Amino acid sequence: MPLKFPEMFLFGTATSSHQIEGNNRWNDWWYYEQIGKLPYRSGKACNHWELYRDDIQLMTSLGYNAYRFSIEWSRLFPEENKFNEDAFMKYREIIDLLLTRGITPLVTLHHFTSPLWFMKKGGFLREENLKHWEKYIEKVAELLEKVKLVATFNEPMVYVMMGYLTAYWPPFIRSPFKAFKVAANLLKAHAIAYELLHGKFKVGIVKNIPIILPASDKERDRKAAEKADNLFNWHFLDAIWSGKYRGVFKTYRIPQSDADFIGVNYYTASEVRHTWNPLKFFFEVKLADISERKTQMGWSVYPKGIYMALKKASRYGRPLYITENGIATLDDEWRVEFIIQHLQYVHKAIEDGLDVRGYFYWSFMDNYEWKEGFGPRFGLVEVDYQTFERRPRKSAYVYGEIARSKEIKDELLKRYGLPELQL
Ligand code: NOJ
Repeated sequence: MPLKFPEMFLFGTATSSHQIEGNNRWNDWWYYEQIGKLPYRSGKACNHWELYRDDIQLMTSLGYNAYRFSIEWSRLFPEENKFNEDAFMKYREIIDLLLTRGITPLVTLHHFTSPLWFMKKGGFLREENLKHWEKYIEKVAELLEKVKLVATFNEPMVYVMMGYLTAYWPPFIRSPFKAFKVAANLLKAHAIAYELLHGKFKVGIVKNIPIILPASDKERDRKAAEKADNLFNWHFLDAIWSGKYRGVFKTYRIPQSDADFIGVNYYTASEVRHTWNPLKFFFEVKLADISERKTQMGWSVYPKGIYMALKKASRYGRPLYITENGIATLDDEWRVEFIIQHLQYVHKAIEDGLDVRGYFYWSFMDNYEWKEGFGPRFGLVEVDYQTFERRPRKSAYVYGEIARSKEIKDELLKRYGLPELQL
């Protein structure tokens, strides 16, 4: 049976500013790249800041009807009191180009990078810095005039964990106390943005929802998994509505707020085991080993997880978008299979009555994968980093076929030797 998606369903792709634009020299990542604290330099990245017209043309011709990208705060405010009108105008043009081509933009306001000057003041660690965020949001309201969908933060808990708990990413701080404080301040920042933007825009937040599996059937592993799931996935989202953010050490009071939609980023599953180590909050997390083949990131592929993530995220009664789902591989046939299998489960979620309104494949094109650099190839479109030439892969066309027809035809499954979803 062909799988029909709703007429209004968005079939898009996703990117972020620092990963594709190039020469983002006013943010914290750039700084750490230059001083060698990060292994790879983003440099010109995909040179999208010059090639954006071509890129939008390409996604139009491929038939996608939506595009998620992020505004680089440090481009608009390269210095504390300096506003960059040129960057403002360019983002305006990008939005206009998308709209005239019938592509719905979903704009992220913070995708891991912050202005260096803001980080030098302590970034989101200090509540008084939120006045700078507020100033940025006011400008954003002007900039996004014609946009409908706005997401405040991308993967806030990943930002917190990587930057303040594992110290694997900028600002390389390893302090559980600071980590939860940053999380609480991100929630306050979300509330500020919601207050200023809601009404004019649909304001949501993008949360990475990995499926967290217990390492064994043992009671203590199951409990540990539940605890990790709460700490990583749900306490943050719960707090938006309850006004109480439950960290490990204490509960933070934050303004009660709302989200008009939840963006779900889904890639893979994690496995959690109990440990007696209090420094690890009594649990250990590693990537789950549940598929024979691993992606270039070392991740297992678990399509059912997208369905599970949507089900769980539906608890808030808000519309859902898959704001990211993708695979890093050089085997493009595998990418086709990946997309179809995940979309089969998205379709099942819709059939079950969940309000899922769109799917954004990560990523439109190969790009700078943070600490992993340019190695992982997530793109539907291949990027030649020497010439910046874009070459759509076969998956780019197959996804376009699905996007245009808004269905997964039986013939498509046959073509790729894929079974219908076994329920
Ligand atoms: C999530 C992040 O939002 C994005 O920046 C990253 O490139 C992808 N996942 C893939 O790891």
